[in-house]
Amino acid sequence: MAITAAITAVEGYLPDYVLTNQELSQMVDTNDEWITTRTGVKERRILKGADKGASVMGAEAVKRLCEKRGISPDEIDLLIAATVTGDYIFPATANIICDKVGAKKAWSFDINAACSGFIYALTTGAQFVQTGAHKKVVVVGVDKMSAIVDYTDRATCVIFGDGAGAVLLEPSTEGFGILDFKHQVDGSGRVHLYQKAGGSVKPPSIETVEKKEHYIYQEGQAVFKVAVKQMADVSAEMMVRNNLKPDDVAWLVPHQANKRIIEAVAHRMELPESKVMLNIHKYGNTTSGTIPLCLWEYQKQMKKGDNIILSAFGGGFTWGAIYVKWAYNS
Ligand code: UT7
Repeated sequence: MAITAAITAVEGYLPDYVLTNQELSQMVDTNDEWITTRTGVKERRILKGADKGASVMGAEAVKRLCEKRGISPDEIDLLIAATVTGDYIFPATANIICDKVGAKKAWSFDINAACSGFIYALTTGAQFVQTGAHKKVVVVGVDKMSAIVDYTDRATCVIFGDGAGAVLLEPSTEGFGILDFKHQVDGSGRVHLYQKAGGSVKPPSIETVEKKEHYIYQEGQAVFKVAVKQMADVSAEMMVRNNLKPDDVAWLVPHQANKRIIEAVAHRMELPESKVMLNIHKYGNTTSGTIPLCLWEYQKQMKKGDNIILSAFGGGFTWGAIYVKWAYNS
């Protein structure tokens, strides 16, 4: 049988500090009722402390992952980090994570696909396992969104949080793991969700900082409309082309951007709420972290052989879905 890339372990890391809707309502003109009904978020985690970047969370998730699977970090062949809030513009945060965990034999790189970053990275990592090139590939989704959130902008500061999740990919000859994927982009959507300054178009300057252009800029409604359509379309297509009926799907693992988007996607797939992984109320939108953090939290409920659809939409625009056959019982 052909080699597939099975997920053989999942771990996560969430910083301790809990930023509640109540605390946010003392910082900006908002309230728990608006945030809960419009987004589904009740609280989110924030990484506090000077000089702490995304790699702090990513490294902790990877350390835990190696312990869980009982492997040494120097057995990792490749580590891919999905992030839009890397420690630095360069070098890659993946390299820093490798250094921190002692993955001395791995090569590594970052993928920037905003909220679709984790699924893009998972598909990429799977190719190296399927071809037989590598035996152990780690895929990390990590973001410290609090580093690029303007805590005076009520339209964005209520949504995002910090966190990291990581999975290990290993070869399977029994048909488990990543079985299908579809990823898409529409670069013209970049104007609706991006960081205006800090890159080569507008290098950071006193002026860009004064204009707060190093923070997230989002036109919420414009993003919402496209997110619902594209995430629902690609998730439904993943079912059709793999001949999966709603009863055949055990779990939908959606990017956690907005509870209303998740509900629309599940509705389109004809899946009941009980099959939809949800933790947006506790962690908000952690960008690259949402999907692995869901897998981490729900893994005890997943069974070997479960058919799972991962689905995401993000800045770029980027979107896609992956069909996974779960490889183990916890
Ligand atoms: O993760 C990657 C991709 N990102 C997404 O998928 C995000 C997609 N977009 C969304 O989830 C939603 O558009 C938001 C949650 C960002 C915003 O929800 P909305 O229902 O689209 O609200 P809106 O932007 O249309 O604003 C409605 C009203 C406005 O007031 P007026 O103009 O009607 O008086 C806003 O000023 O709500 C106001 N508003 C708030 N009120 C209280 C905006 N933010 C807040 C707030 N608290 N935090």
